[in-house]
Amino acid sequence: MHLPDPAPLYADHLATLTARADAALARAGLDHLVIPSGRLHYQVFDDRDYPFAVNPHFKHWLPLTRVPDSWVVHTPGKRPQLIFNQPRDYWHVVPAAPNGWWVEHFDIHIIREAEQALPLLPADPARCAILGEANSAIGAFAPNNPQAVLDHLHWHRSFKTPYEIALMRAAQVPAVRAHKAAEAAFRAGASEFEIHMAYCAAATQDANELPYGNIIALNQNGAVLHYTELDKQRPADPRSFLIDAGASAFGYASDITRSYAAAGHDEFQALIDAVDRVQQQLCAKVRAGFDYKQLHLDAHLGLAGVLREFDIIKVDAETALATGVSNAFFPHGIGHGIGAQVHDVAGFAEGEHGGFIQRPDGQRFLRLTRQLQPGMVVTIEPGIYFIDMLLEDLRAAGQADAVNWQRVDLFKPYGGIRIEDEVLCTDAQADNLTRPVFAATPA
Ligand code: GLY
Ligand code: MN
Ligand code: MN
Repeated sequence: MHLPDPAPLYADHLATLTARADAALARAGLDHLVIPSGRLHYQVFDDRDYPFAVNPHFKHWLPLTRVPDSWVVHTPGKRPQLIFNQPRDYWHVVPAAPNGWWVEHFDIHIIREAEQALPLLPADPARCAILGEANSAIGAFAPNNPQAVLDHLHWHRSFKTPYEIALMRAAQVPAVRAHKAAEAAFRAGASEFEIHMAYCAAATQDANELPYGNIIALNQNGAVLHYTELDKQRPADPRSFLIDAGASAFGYASDITRSYAAAGHDEFQALIDAVDRVQQQLCAKVRAGFDYKQLHLDAHLGLAGVLREFDIIKVDAETALATGVSNAFFPHGIGHGIGAQVHDVAGFAEGEHGGFIQRPDGQRFLRLTRQLQPGMVVTIEPGIYFIDMLLEDLRAAGQADAVNWQRVDLFKPYGGIRIEDEVLCTDAQADNLTRPVFAATPA
């Protein structure tokens, strides 16, 4: 399938970031934006480092994810500076010399150890917005994370540049390839661990490179929302498979979920198909001006309609939402913003000055409450689960009569269903980043 080339889009991306940074600094009355890439973290009383997670602000400027102790410095009116740490180190592979589409846009200073950045940073840290975590500090350059700067940059980061959209489209490809390999492994009777390994091999990414821990759940394990156990035993009776797994491209994430029934489990397959129909209707609602809170409530109504249609609940959709019955079967948010972080920032922001838009009453886990606007990319991930704890809570709340427990018992061994795509909000129709890649990828 045709994918846009990010290289010619980078100059405009950088111009957008520069303009946003200028505005953020002006608001805060500061002169420089300084972004450390981050520093390795070590395990307590040990010399083993945790997998390096680059500062998301840093990878917003540059497609570099494995360069600890490097710095981006932006000063309005000047070319951006990159202080690039390429240590003298024969124990580890060090970052390759700067290369790629971004190099010509930066003044690059190579350093050999972290402290060599100090004389290359602006003279007065008090005049800088330094964005990062505390352990990135060198000398007087300690991250100060001015709230006004963060609010401005986080709000605007919701609106992806064409360059970022190209990277996000690229992040779908290895993930979908790996989803297909995972489905084939499931159908061959593999264990969760074996499916995970098949996924990583097909994505050519290991657990440290993936944007989040794979959720590979067979049978009733699909009822655990963030199930990451990877059972090594092959199931005696594979009935269902829920896989929530993504991939990374230049620091950008994909986040995709599919649900499958084993051959012969036709009624569960029909339930999956019904959730899939609701999911596609919700994806189509991603358009400029639509309130994501409403999309979440629409998901409840659509899923409760499915529960009613399958005789799992005995009340209509509106009643199920009003009484908390739908919350027991769909106990998470309809989705979230996504980009350089799988759960993107500023999900509740009222505007570039920050603020907080509350969730709808009773909807504790929704991560995005904003109105959709062109350039935003969100996930749409409705699900139906059979979770003992929540079903017991329903009984305790006096709602036992709203549920057909025989039907619940029939579906419990399948765990749950979730279907998740990423969708770009445009000026016109929703642009589903995920589905066309499934259609174009061979099994
Ligand atoms: N993979 C986590 C999520 O879907 O948000
Ligand atoms: Mn997911
Ligand atoms: Mn998600």
